[in-house]
Amino acid sequence: VTYREAHRPQIHFTPPSMWMNDPNGMVFYEGEYHLFYQYYPDSTVWGPMHWGHAVSPDMVRWEHLPIALYPDSLGYIFSGSAVIDWKNTSGLGTANNPPMVAIFTHHDPEGYPAGRQDFQVQSIAYSLDRGRTWTKYADNPVVSNPGIQDFRDPKVSWHEASQQWVMILAVKDRIHFYTSPNLKDWTFASEFGENVGSHGGVWECPDLFELPVEGDPEQTKWVFLLSINPGGPNGGSATQYFVGDFDGKTFTLDPEFAQDVQPDPADPEREQAVWLDYGPDNYAGVTFSDVLDQDGRRLFMGWMGNWDYAQVVPTHPWRSAMTLPRSLSLHQTDQGLRVFSRPVKEISGIYSGGFEVLQGPTEGRQEITAAIPQQSIPLELEIEAMASPTESVGPFGMLIYNDTGDTLRVGFDPTEQRYFVDRSQAGTNDFSDKFTPVSYAPRTVFDPIIKMNLFFDEASVELFADNGATVMTAIFFPNAPFRKVALFSEGGELEWKKIEGRSMRSIWR
Ligand code: FRU
Repeated sequence: VTYREAHRPQIHFTPPSMWMNDPNGMVFYEGEYHLFYQYYPDSTVWGPMHWGHAVSPDMVRWEHLPIALYPDSLGYIFSGSAVIDWKNTSGLGTANNPPMVAIFTHHDPEGYPAGRQDFQVQSIAYSLDRGRTWTKYADNPVVSNPGIQDFRDPKVSWHEASQQWVMILAVKDRIHFYTSPNLKDWTFASEFGENVGSHGGVWECPDLFELPVEGDPEQTKWVFLLSINPGGPNGGSATQYFVGDFDGKTFTLDPEFAQDVQPDPADPEREQAVWLDYGPDNYAGVTFSDVLDQDGRRLFMGWMGNWDYAQVVPTHPWRSAMTLPRSLSLHQTDQGLRVFSRPVKEISGIYSGGFEVLQGPTEGRQEITAAIPQQSIPLELEIEAMASPTESVGPFGMLIYNDTGDTLRVGFDPTEQRYFVDRSQAGTNDFSDKFTPVSYAPRTVFDPIIKMNLFFDEASVELFADNGATVMTAIFFPNAPFRKVALFSEGGELEWKKIEGRSMRSIWR
């Protein structure tokens, strides 16, 4: 393993080798961000799940640690969360050394073939040495199965107002809430979601947290993240969200937000949803527990993959990466409250040289490779443009390309008022006919200036448009590395307001 293999991400977390899916148990403790992840150490496709483990001082540069949780007599270790039990409510640590407690799904692989329904249960494990070694709780499971086949992915947090632990669980087509005084004894509290949002696939990997409304510090709302597979806006798996209130037992949708996630009255078959990321490759993402910095940030990472084709992508000897870490915030927009995602500021720690390109009106294609210091990927670009009010302008944006004829295009289409990522010509794509060639995302903020912040890695692009209001994440596999960059605009003059960028160092060196 060199971290220089073809398509190896340079600014994204990957396991050294073998199969990875969801991020799990993300928690901050004693100066370290912990990332656990769904891991199968014996193959590059999904199999008996373990929790892989890595730590980082900044969510950007990672140190791999030994596997934290292995399958056992109760089954595979599926997705879940981790918390610091500060008050030692569980009694698993001491007041001076609070336990780190992981709450996960035990999946009995023999249940389904045997025709049973109850093969997913919730269990806990704890560590008293900063996540280095783990002990499974002797009385697992802590939540038994009521007879429902899909019953998994516990996300646990401490609810300050009611002084108790809350667990949210993905239960087939809805969410179940449980509460507990001690992480060991859980009581069913309520359910949510049967008639709202997208139900194109099974519900997985929920998360629930409170966020202040930007610009209105008195007001806070609860944001509910929910992954769904399939049924995503551009095919396969994706993450939708809800905004509302939570009293420690029940989640209530905001009346205004409810309109955007209830079946369309004109066409009840059409489910409406609001998506955290419209790209095809951001799934099962949740936020870190116990982030104690003064900004009170809500920090998110997702799995940069899609169940439609993740197991057949052309990478070796590993499969899958995580998204860049992102900070989530809540904003009042013309369409109501919306979650914005922005890359975390810690990414500046790997900047290795900035550049600016001359701005002005252009038409057609403008090469900018020569202006980029290292003339290589990874690369961050910030571009701003304004379409002339008198001329109709076609799609515009950026492309990266190589000498073998592969090109990736990312941009905005003013006619359709939508962003797009076009990977149809970006290299190998014959491994799956579900590898969506072009993805689209609606614009939700209406400002005459179009802003795009783009992060290019060897095999992925992340677009944060309009300050993070619209996000798209997509992977691709060029036949030779992309090293050339150009701006493009089709049909009509475009006024570039800002073209600025940063080269970045690999996180593995
Ligand atoms: C989501 C998911 C989870 C499950 C895990 C199994 O990608 O299907 O619901 O816990 O992956 O690896």
